[in-house]
Amino acid sequence: MAEVDLLRALPRTSRNIPQRGEAKTADVIAAAREFGELYFDGSRDYGYGGYRYDGRWRPVAADIVAHFGLKPGMRVLDVGCAKGFLVKDLMTACPGLDVFGLDISEYALMHCEPEVVGRLHLGSGDRLPFPDASFDCVISINTIHNFDRDGAARALREIERLSPGRAFVQVDSYLTPAQKDLFESWVLTARFHDYPQGWLSLFAETGYTGDHYWTIVE
Ligand SMILES: C[S@@+](CC[C@H](N)C(=O)[O-])C[C@H]1O[C@@H](n2cnc3c(N)ncnc32)[C@H](O)[C@@H]1O
Repeated sequence: MAEVDLLRALPRTSRNIPQRGEAKTADVIAAAREFGELYFDGSRDYGYGGYRYDGRWRPVAADIVAHFGLKPGMRVLDVGCAKGFLVKDLMTACPGLDVFGLDISEYALMHCEPEVVGRLHLGSGDRLPFPDASFDCVISINTIHNFDRDGAARALREIERLSPGRAFVQVDSYLTPAQKDLFESWVLTARFHDYPQGWLSLFAETGYTGDHYWTIVE
């Protein structure tokens, strides 16, 4: 298990935290948690404010391929794949790599990139409908924190089951009380978040032995 910043090549997200804080109501949070059109392609108050492919995941895909030594014929699963941007870019970064995704959002899957049609499964990260050890690598970026703690534990166990020791999860965290306050003003969908130590305890509790990194709002 290693802490590794596999998203280091991703451009920094711009966030208007005071505006989000003002717009955030129980109704907005409930709508965002449906992971439908409003969350992906509605206004920034509800989520992404437009989730469109622009190639920004290409260098991340190259880093993932290098980190895990992925080769043609190996199988990779992206849990929380949304519209399949990373699935597509992994396929380009390593031609012949067999890449799949899974997401709870029918909207995202119905608006996926054309190159990944048929590769994306509708389902929940805490119940992955695949046999034990059936992937060479499982990735899950900014998804597991959308469960409560028990659900996140189930998802981590599922990832470990599919690809023991060869996985990467990135989750919401903070290093200081000030970062925690900032995060809490910004967060819409995450139900479980913690300092790294809290996440590391959960990893140990669930037997998750893959790699990890933190998304920190600054
Ligand atoms: C912040 S987005 C991250 C999307 C993508 N991994 C990325 O980094 O751009 C969170 C994703 O998790 C998905 N999601 C939320 N709950 C989920 C669940 N229980 N099972 C699978 N996917 C889920 C959402 O639909 C959404 O696509």
